[in-house]
Amino acid sequence: MSKFARIIGTGSYLPPGIVSNDDLSKTINTSDEWITTRTGIKQRHKVDKETTCDLAEIASKNALDMAGIDAKDLDLIILATTTPDKIFPATATMLQNAIGASCPAFDIQSVCAGFIFALTTAEQYIKTGMAKNVLVVGSETMSRIVDWKDRSTAILFGDGAGAVVLSGSEETGILHSSLFSDGSYVSSLQVNNNYINETGFIEMSGNEVFKIAVSRLSSLAEETLKKANMSSDDLDWMVPHQANIRIISAVAKRIKTPMSKVIVTLENQGNTSAASIPLALDTAIRDGRIKKGDNLLMEGIGGGFSWGGVLAQL
Ligand code: UT7
Repeated sequence: MSKFARIIGTGSYLPPGIVSNDDLSKTINTSDEWITTRTGIKQRHKVDKETTCDLAEIASKNALDMAGIDAKDLDLIILATTTPDKIFPATATMLQNAIGASCPAFDIQSVCAGFIFALTTAEQYIKTGMAKNVLVVGSETMSRIVDWKDRSTAILFGDGAGAVVLSGSEETGILHSSLFSDGSYVSSLQVNNNYINETGFIEMSGNEVFKIAVSRLSSLAEETLKKANMSSDDLDWMVPHQANIRIISAVAKRIKTPMSKVIVTLENQGNTSAASIPLALDTAIRDGRIKKGDNLLMEGIGGGFSWGGVLAQL
């Protein structure tokens, strides 16, 4: 049994295809000015032929490289995705094969909170001694469930993948985590099919989601810090889900954290759902902003609704 679960490596990958706000304004009634002001997003990446598993494979290999861990040494793979490549098998099992691992592998579906749910689950496996090294991935091809004619959602989402290797340690790692769900909000943010064999697209009551996101994520941040006996002064970084710059800055303001301590990647990536937090984390670790020993608060909310947060020392 390990006292803590520590992040020992991160990786990410964005497919090369880019859709700019100007590209979107050629096909739907929108503008770069509207999208930038209301969301902070300037462009998003979009797959061509690549699958969710393909994106996850590259992000995972990058994370394993940084961790110095061979895929054969993984005890578990948890992949969070809203956009699995197939109804079955789990995309995690295809990823297991692609990276040459042989451990159990399963998917988690908690939409934009998926990475937080996956990380928290991985932490439990490590702390109970069931696993030592766990690969936790968020990978999405959101462009496949976007209605490209709907200006209220097509402007928001992007494709990409992020991954971390979580490992058992006596050194500090995850300090506190909490998860929540409220299924009474299904129709506020959902894919609008009725049955699994019907095609569906993302449907969202943007305004309602915006208000709930700010209120739930602000309370979550306050409670998480309180439970860890910390104040926002003890936080080095917030690594939030990247849905809208106005949501991110409202939460930061509420917990009195300056934007200089918040990792923001949505300008170039849009909302990559379960991939957005590990993508932001990897970006800021690789560019040298986040360093070993820093305290991070990661949190996210998504689809009809699930939300959660993880406070960790890197
Ligand atoms: O990751 C999961 C969680 N998801 C989120 O957190 C998303 C939360 N919601 C949001 O980020 C925002 O609500 C949106 C960015 C989706 C929308 O921003 P808003 O400030 O809430 O705009 P709105 O929906 O209140 O719409 C304002 C106006 C409307 O026109 P009228 O009724 O005032 O004439 C819309 O029809 O803007 C119009 N509009 C647009 N105009 C140009 C809506 N979408 C667009 C668009 N381009 N793309």
